[in-house]
Amino acid sequence: MADETPPSPTPASRSAEGASTKRTRRSLMEWGIHLLAALATAMVALPVLGTLLSPIYARSKSENWVTVGASDQFPDGETVKVVFKQVKRDGYMESEHPVTVYVSRQADRYTVFSATCTHLGCAVNWIGAEKKFQCPCHNGAFGPDGKVLYGPPPKPLPQLQARVNGDGQLEVLAI
Ligand code: FES
Repeated sequence: MADETPPSPTPASRSAEGASTKRTRRSLMEWGIHLLAALATAMVALPVLGTLLSPIYARSKSENWVTVGASDQFPDGETVKVVFKQVKRDGYMESEHPVTVYVSRQADRYTVFSATCTHLGCAVNWIGAEKKFQCPCHNGAFGPDGKVLYGPPPKPLPQLQARVNGDGQLEVLAI
């Protein structure tokens, strides 16, 4: 009968085995450290990235075209006052604000002026007979093209983007 007892490990083979186990433990620990470092980096980087990208996301979300009426309801060559409601979002809060604009039509071209004076923010009025926007606060005035005629306003009336949609409705890009 042959002796089938496996040969007992020599001190050299035991030492090699121990080194291999140490290497495995070491690589496991290194892997764990790398994982923790990656998680820590992600915890710092993701909020920063979110903050940096949020204006882009907010801008695309806030692009808000508002219908202000049928385009043919605005007489050619005239300027008409329109008030529409704009929804504003502040975090989780939503509120509606009335926005006053003046729509000026020249054939198929629609120009939409903000009614807010560029001096101190009073609401201007369109004086059709004099073809000008008059500000009641400090006697500022703007021409039919929105440019300053006289008074303290430092710049022309702001214009809002406008378009006529496929249904013939005039839409304004609310800011
Ligand atoms: S606020 Fe309009 S002129 Fe001052």
